Amino acid sequence: MTLEIRKHGRVGAEILGIDLSRPFATGDLAAIRAAFAEHGVVFFRDQSISEEQHIAFARNWGEININRFFAAHPDYPEIALVVKEPDQQHNIGGGWHTDHSYDFEPALGSILVARELPAQGGATAFASMYAAYDGLPEALRARIEGRSAVHSARHVFGSKAGVYEAAQDTRQDGRIGNSGAADVLDDPVHPMVITHPLSGKRAIYVNPSFTVRIQGLSEDASQELLQEIYAHCVKPEFQEDFHWRDGSIAFWDNRATWHYAYNDYHGHRREMHRITIEGEVLR
Ligand code: SIN
Repeated sequence: MTLEIRKHGRVGAEILGIDLSRPFATGDLAAIRAAFAEHGVVFFRDQSISEEQHIAFARNWGEININRFFAAHPDYPEIALVVKEPDQQHNIGGGWHTDHSYDFEPALGSILVARELPAQGGATAFASMYAAYDGLPEALRARIEGRSAVHSARHVFGSKAGVYEAAQDTRQDGRIGNSGAADVLDDPVHPMVITHPLSGKRAIYVNPSFTVRIQGLSEDASQELLQEIYAHCVKPEFQEDFHWRDGSIAFWDNRATWHYAYNDYHGHRREMHRITIEGEVLR
């Protein structure tokens, strides 16, 4: 099989000519790594991989982070279950975010495997933070270069009321409510613009679900600037939807993209398996 990289609209790339259930040919992993670094998210179609193969594929990129908030697969703790049952209203990931920005060493990426899909809906949107950075108006760029922001998961997960439930409406206004959650987690500070560890490209590194304030600004000034950045980042020219099919896999880079799971399939079941890979301190 010859591996082929094909751009996926405005964000990401599809990798064709590879069967992830089989041993890799020389150069395959390097090619996937290069596409991942360049495009921020890579997609695979028509795959059939077991849970063990999902875990083995993830280990090519780093240590697996066992998510402390999500329900784990009963037999494979490395796999987080991203499930919406027919009678549930809220979905996991239904607000723009990047996974684990609330960690001191934010996750490199996540590999999501479709296990059960609704007949319609249930797509995932991706936004490129490389493109959003490149498209920043000069004046806005000058206001965030050199600044850092605090990230937190307390308002989302601290109450244990439901994973990401508090974040479900962030697409409309970019804000999430404070659930009054217990003060149980430490809050890391990351640069608002990072140099991507693999590609060397500059990327915006704040997100509506987990960034809580900008250091050195008043609460009002901080929220105002974050809202301006978010309004810029969700412009259609920086986004692309991914429509899942049986056998689809997405491997996204949490340092280069945001994602958002559409919640448009009420009454139907969707089950995805997610493995998140450890990252590093961002600079
Ligand atoms: C997530 O945010 O990790 C889940 C995305 C999805 O289910 O499409």
